[in-house]
This record gives sequence, C-alpha cells and structure tokens, in this order.
Amino acid sequence: MPIRRLDQALALRGFGSRKEIHALVRAGQVQINGIPAHSAAQKIDLERDRVTLRGEPVCLQEFIYIMLHKPPGVVSAARDSNTPTVIDLLPAQLRRRGLFPVGRLDKDTTGLLLLTDDGALAHALLSPKKHVPKTYLAALQTPATENDIRAFAAGMALPPAEGHPPEDCLPAELSILEGYMARVVLREGKYHQIKRMFAARGNGVLSLHRESMGSLRLDEALQPGECRELTAEEIAELKTIE
Ligand code: URA
Repeated sequence: MPIRRLDQALALRGFGSRKEIHALVRAGQVQINGIPAHSAAQKIDLERDRVTLRGEPVCLQEFIYIMLHKPPGVVSAARDSNTPTVIDLLPAQLRRRGLFPVGRLDKDTTGLLLLTDDGALAHALLSPKKHVPKTYLAALQTPATENDIRAFAAGMALPPAEGHPPEDCLPAELSILEGYMARVVLREGKYHQIKRMFAARGNGVLSLHRESMGSLRLDEALQPGECRELTAEEIAELKTIE
C-alpha cells in the first residue's frame, strides 16, 4: 500500500510546486474521498484514496494500467504527427507522462491493447524469452486449412515486408472457426506477423482483432475506443510473469 504526503504525491505527478499545492489545499480546492484536505502534509494511500483537484479526479497511483479496446484507424504509439494515437483516446484523468502501449497493433487491427507506465511489466510481457501468448481472431480471404494448421505449428518462414527481411517464427496455434474465421495464438510479436503468415500460405487477412494477452482478456463491455483501468486482480495476475 504506497502511502505518500498529499503535496509530494501531487507535485510528483506535475500538479504544481509544493508551494502551489499548499495554496490549493488552503483554498479548499483539494478533496480526499469527498472531504476537503485539512493539510498538504496529510498522508494518502495512492491506490485507494480518491483525490480531486478543483473538482476533477486526479490519478496518483505509482503506475497506471489501462485496457483499451483499440478501434481501427489509430496508431499504437505514444505520439504521431499525422495520425491519431491510442493515447489520444484516453480521458484526461487517465493520461499521464510516460504512458505507452505495450507492443503494437497495426493501424487497422482492433482489440485488446494494454497501456501503462510500468516499464518492468511491459518489458516482461514483451520479452521474447517469456513467450507470453497473444490470441487473435482473423477474418480471412479464403478459409484456413488443415495444412495451414500444420504449417503454423511447425514454425514458418515469413516473407519480407516493408523493409523487414525474411525471418523464421516460433510455432503458433491456428484453429479453424466457422466460415472464413480463424483464431491464432502467437508467442512473439513480429512486424505484421499474422498477415505475413497467411500471406506465406497464399491467403489474405481481411480483419484482425486481439482477444487476449497473457492472462488479460478484452472486457466485452468495452466498445471500440473505450478503456478502463485494470482491476487489482488483473494487475496481480499479469505480474506473475515478471
Ligand atoms: N499480426 C499482424 O499482422 N498485425 C497485428 O496488428 C498483430 C499481429
């Protein structure tokens, strides 16, 4: 349970200097759990206490973990001069310096994207040594075949793509679903990997949607473009891979 002084916690998150925060507290502009703070030196629990500044909620947790249902048309980057990014979709109270997407989904790919400022967790989730499974639903140009399942399971050679050389990939699980749909489980994340895998099999991917990453599943209540913070249980489960 991280406990900090109120003025320290607010200053650390860039809400002003300690002097400015003292003035805000004196003016009754800072509330803790709905009650005006009585002192800038008051101790708060960063995970549990709800702090508002001028009536707006502020996020003071040490790290923040956000699940986003990525819509098509936004890039998985913290900044881009031409295209809206996944960070642009977050409500103001969840945006903070240092927040980045854990791995990349293509601009047209939808589904689960985790955003955090916890570098250690992101590193563990993306580490090629950890082999964290990522599950995708793909709509294909032609239905997948039993031979495709075997080729994916054997680990296939990817054709080159946009400056990326040919490369080998780890075994992947392919399941054939109804119609033109398939489910793919990857344990790595190479550039346009699923599109290149199906291209190598003479097939095309019409749309791609990520359902899960490790223990984390996309919350079905989230519409494309919506996000929510992870629950304490979801964070604890993800952290077991660190
Ligand atoms: N594979 C792809 O081709 N694209 C993605 O966005 C993710 C996996």
